[in-house]
Amino acid sequence: MADDRTAATPDGGTEWIRRADYQPPRYRINRVELAVDVDARTVVTSRMQIERNAGADPEAPLWLDARDLELLSIRVDDAPLAADRLVHGNGGFWVHGLPTQCLIETQCAIHPEQNTALEGFYASGPMYCTQCEAHGFSRITPFIDRPDVLARFQVRLTADATRFPVLLANGDCIERGTLDDGRHFTVWEDPFPKPCYLFAMVAGDLALVRGDYRTSEGRPIALEFYVDHGSEGLVDHAMEALRQAMRWDEECFGLHYDLDTYMVVAARAFNMGAMENKGLNIFNSSLVLASTRTATDTTFDAITSVIAHEYFHNYTGNRVTCRDWFQLSLKEGLTVFRDQRFSEDVLGASVQRIEQARALRAVQFPEDAGPTAHPVRPDAYKEVNNFYTPTVYEKGAEIVRMMHARIGESAFREGLRSYLQQHDGTAATIEDFVQALSTAAGVDLDGFLAWYGQAGTPRLAVRREWLPEQGRMRLHFNQHTPATPGQPDKQPLPIPIRMQLLDGEGEVRPLPAHPARQGDDLLLMTEATLTLDIDSDEPLLPACLMGLSAPVILQGDYSTLDLQRLAVQAGDPYVRWDALQQLHAQAHRALMADDDSLLEPLLVSLQRIAAAPPEDEAFTAMLLAPPAMSWLWEQYDTLDPQRFMAAFQSLKTAVARALCGPLSVWAQRNPIAPGRAGQRALTNVALGYLLLLQSDAVLALARRRVCDDNMTLAMAALQGLNQTATGECTLANAAFYERWRDDALVLDRWFAVQAASPHCTVEGVQQLLEHPDFDWQNPNRVRAVVASFARENLSHFHSEAGYALYADILQRLDRSNPQIAARLCRPLIGFARLAEPWSGQQRAAARALRARAASPNLQEMLDAALHD
Ligand code: TRP
Ligand code: ZN
Repeated sequence: MADDRTAATPDGGTEWIRRADYQPPRYRINRVELAVDVDARTVVTSRMQIERNAGADPEAPLWLDARDLELLSIRVDDAPLAADRLVHGNGGFWVHGLPTQCLIETQCAIHPEQNTALEGFYASGPMYCTQCEAHGFSRITPFIDRPDVLARFQVRLTADATRFPVLLANGDCIERGTLDDGRHFTVWEDPFPKPCYLFAMVAGDLALVRGDYRTSEGRPIALEFYVDHGSEGLVDHAMEALRQAMRWDEECFGLHYDLDTYMVVAARAFNMGAMENKGLNIFNSSLVLASTRTATDTTFDAITSVIAHEYFHNYTGNRVTCRDWFQLSLKEGLTVFRDQRFSEDVLGASVQRIEQARALRAVQFPEDAGPTAHPVRPDAYKEVNNFYTPTVYEKGAEIVRMMHARIGESAFREGLRSYLQQHDGTAATIEDFVQALSTAAGVDLDGFLAWYGQAGTPRLAVRREWLPEQGRMRLHFNQHTPATPGQPDKQPLPIPIRMQLLDGEGEVRPLPAHPARQGDDLLLMTEATLTLDIDSDEPLLPACLMGLSAPVILQGDYSTLDLQRLAVQAGDPYVRWDALQQLHAQAHRALMADDDSLLEPLLVSLQRIAAAPPEDEAFTAMLLAPPAMSWLWEQYDTLDPQRFMAAFQSLKTAVARALCGPLSVWAQRNPIAPGRAGQRALTNVALGYLLLLQSDAVLALARRRVCDDNMTLAMAALQGLNQTATGECTLANAAFYERWRDDALVLDRWFAVQAASPHCTVEGVQQLLEHPDFDWQNPNRVRAVVASFARENLSHFHSEAGYALYADILQRLDRSNPQIAARLCRPLIGFARLAEPWSGQQRAAARALRARAASPNLQEMLDAALHD
């Protein structure tokens, strides 16, 4: 049936929604007035000014999405709707026989206190708040729940004044007052038309922390953070990050905040990181609240980037939104790119970029190689919430970064500004964005659209050919993308290759003239192969993919000696770090076969770095740290997880022994001053290694440090101790619990380090789940135990009992919070790459879970892996 539901709005996950089926909406909603009465039964009244779009079939009924709503009444133009004009469907209803314009009034009852899915209007501790992206709004009131329907909203909230003294919604508060029954109300008007996924409201008893900001145009903005009472002292860092982000967007792109107030609410129970609702961001409290006593430096940096991310959405996402959910990366990839650039500017470019690369390779590359691999712009989905992925976010950001590299900073700024101007107040597509960049730069970027459509991580092979009699070196580049589910054949993609050529002294030789050359150190590969001839009197060493200039896997023809040279000589920090990662991977691969001969070159390189460390200690820490386990895991086609873990352990222990001298010096320092995060990072890496050797002195040092007033140091000590099975670890866990049992965010970390411990058995995980402080309704607590167990404690997760426990956990979560269940599902669908008996055991556990899975979210994830 042709209506606004097709290919646009949820249908309960029973059918595929396809990008090719997109149709513009038949109807629009120009304005909506909501009245929300929060009470034992919360009643939502909605008055929508509806208009049929020009060209739409006048016979076409209006489809309104409505999920889990108790419809109390519906009136059209102030008259009750005849029963035969209302037809119920899956996830909503049709209204027939409408004039071109009309006013529809609906009244519904909802139950936020029973909403465990944390989607729509729900209880987070004692407060009520919303999460509407992607389709939560239709769990609050009937609506055309698709992002290309933009409406002006007015919201009137009424609730008990004692229990809910704070009542917030998007935009400006235009009226407030008290009623004589102990209740009060506020009225909010948002002047900007918006899709309903950006709607938000909050009712609670919250403390307000105020800050201010003045735009470069001189306009004062009130910054308001709403947090639990008692947490007022924990918002300084987030507040300052917000100011920095506001300034940065003005300076880089001339973008000024557009309302008088910017509100941030911290929620204890939240499915993801944060949400960019217009003027009223709602955050997971773990990404707002921090002090040096309670949060690590890593958390501080995460707060900086997520605060910036949500702020930057005000333009990229809110002022210009997405035409449909297939375009999700239009806002997410672009906004991640913006928050990454911001973090590089305020936190240090080289370390930030390596961290981005590390995360991409550890999380997105595996997704792109697994059963749920999908293009940055997918072609079809059943449950859109499963597509808020590292591919859409992080790989999407890498595509924007490549286009940025191709056209340069100033054309990019120009292009982004013109994109925002042209599409202001509307819903756009990825083509619109690429077109605006192309026009501004005078460069055709259409080739990059293929990156949005093709899943899988390209392999970029580099081979050197030395031709001494001709006095030249030939470099052969060759790209190849392996098949992914549903995409057997791949095409070549444009790949920007930032590179330098090093001579025997480590000096940089210029790149030769070549049509593919775009700048001093930039090549743009556009075909499957590229050959570069370089005149030289000696063989040169290419340092490729500087700063990870493309999201590809480099397959260089490097000898161990070449890698050692790159690790020390390369000018680019990412190339140095990557060379060490390769040396780690080589050594690990050999250890898997009980061969320790490749340890030597790795250890020699690490010793050299430790002996003459770079000035930047955060960078030194990254060079010395062990590789991410999930990245190492990706280096194998089939895996025996027990062997994998044993080899990883040997690898780290060998490093600890070889570097014991300098590590001891670093580990014993006590860098507590706020500005010394780099030193803390190195101190912590050092302590982590040394604890593997379990000397009494180091165990005692760590045991003392667990009670340190600096959480970065304390947490590393606790985490390191949990890698050991010692009395000190038991004592430390008990002491830490006593100290922090009333601080939910710190206690999350306490749960996480235990579940991640290689000494925590399946029964141990079970005990954590039965701990009085465990809470199945709180996603942070659930993730702390469940995700840590599956991602880090591989030797216990990979067992029949481990898989069975994991499947039981997912089944239980699925019944209360399908989004969380689906997001935690990934470790259970990696069986294609496991050796027997693990592969068969995990597959059986996944199959059994599929038979019991209730939600389309979890079903879709399992089906992707079990489809055969
Ligand atoms: N749009 C949000 C962001 O990236 C994330 C988001 C999407 C989200 N869906 C969500 C957050 C559901 C919480 C719950 O900034
Ligand atoms: Zn986002």
